[in-house]
Amino acid sequence: MKQDMILILDLGSEENPRLAREIRALGVYSEIHPHDITLEEVKALPNVKGIILNGGPNRVVDGVEIDAAKEIYNHDVPVLLADHKGDQPWPSDEEERKQALSNFVFGVCGAQPNWNMENFIADQVELIRQQVGDRKVLLALSGGVDSSVVAALLIRAIGKQLTCVHVNHGLLRKGEPEQVVEVFRHQMDANLIYVDAVDRFLDKLAGAADPEQKRKIIGTEFIRVFEEEARKLEGIEFLAQGTIYPDVVESGLGGESTVIKSHHNVGGLPDYVDFKEIVEPLRDLFKDETRQAGRELGLPEYLVSRQPFPGPGLAIRIIGEVTPDKVKMVQEADAIWREEIAKAGLDKSISQYYAALTNMRSVGVMGDERTYDYAVALRAVTTTDFMTAEAAEIPWGLLQTVTSRIVNEVQHVNRILYDCTGKPPATIEFE
Ligand code: XMP
Repeated sequence: MKQDMILILDLGSEENPRLAREIRALGVYSEIHPHDITLEEVKALPNVKGIILNGGPNRVVDGVEIDAAKEIYNHDVPVLLADHKGDQPWPSDEEERKQALSNFVFGVCGAQPNWNMENFIADQVELIRQQVGDRKVLLALSGGVDSSVVAALLIRAIGKQLTCVHVNHGLLRKGEPEQVVEVFRHQMDANLIYVDAVDRFLDKLAGAADPEQKRKIIGTEFIRVFEEEARKLEGIEFLAQGTIYPDVVESGLGGESTVIKSHHNVGGLPDYVDFKEIVEPLRDLFKDETRQAGRELGLPEYLVSRQPFPGPGLAIRIIGEVTPDKVKMVQEADAIWREEIAKAGLDKSISQYYAALTNMRSVGVMGDERTYDYAVALRAVTTTDFMTAEAAEIPWGLLQTVTSRIVNEVQHVNRILYDCTGKPPATIEFE
């Protein structure tokens, strides 16, 4: 890489990812590394123009204050110690903070603002070509932001040497599998294997009502299907993955401030197929940068601005047993909710929103008939880190419109509830 870099060494501050993002926002590339990095390792990193040692509440480990090696302080690039205890050079005011950072990054370190998406993509294309040569790569393409951007980047770098496998497990949102096929096969001319595994997943899920059991069934079945497809292909040596920087930070840099999120099965695919190497070209990007890369690579906006969607999909938005009829109900209700939120211009300010199917049935009336049908719960939350969240305030008129559309357009739904609970005590998903 040709870009200048500001290195952040993790001395137990939870602010490190924010700091790295702020430096990148100034146009200078920044990476977080563990505090015990050696001087040799620092020297091996390209174009390090300055180092920030960022201390924080987790600096004292087992009664001992952790620190970087002496040689790092004496290295021939500017070093800034930012510690929570006293010498805190970062003002809390946004403007002043930006100014202080600019002073250090440009004034003291003399870094050039040469980090941008165009350069990043050009570098990655080059690196991928070097790594892969004329060999072949396989990618599980879910249609989420990360895997879609990896696909677009690999298509640009190696074209048909990439094979994408999209497994439709029947628990995706309305229209999603069709969009994946349209974008990747038709618009980007990718090698795309589309696997219709809808019946297979629904058969496996029959009778399962427990959330963890449903997650397990879907996770296991997904791996089986993917493995079967991989076996049919010949000469694949690489597996591509949509790992992004927050995944890298969260799964532990070896630093002290890392929070490990374990309950989500996003750890990718286990080592069931003998791939020689992994390709992870988004490892250095934050989520917003990943979206930006997707735009630069020509992916449609609806794909790059997509909200998070859980791996087990709609199965954890149907409380209790999953049946084909219930999947259809939740897909239809969710499509209406999403459409109306977008129409009201709220899709950018709400972090995650969806419709869930409760397993509550209640009495209603339709014309002269008594009904005994399901209740749909609408959920919309705002959050920055998905660890805590608040229920979004939705204009009453919008709720009325959505309510009337869902009860009229979706069969067997006669009641709509809005979930006003934050996280905690609730979670974002229902299961
Ligand atoms: P919760 O429900 O735990 O969700 O508040 C926090 C975030 O994680 C997503 N989520 C999942 N993602 N597999 C995933 O890949 C899962 O099993 C899973 N459960 C929750 C959820 O959509 C939200 O963004």
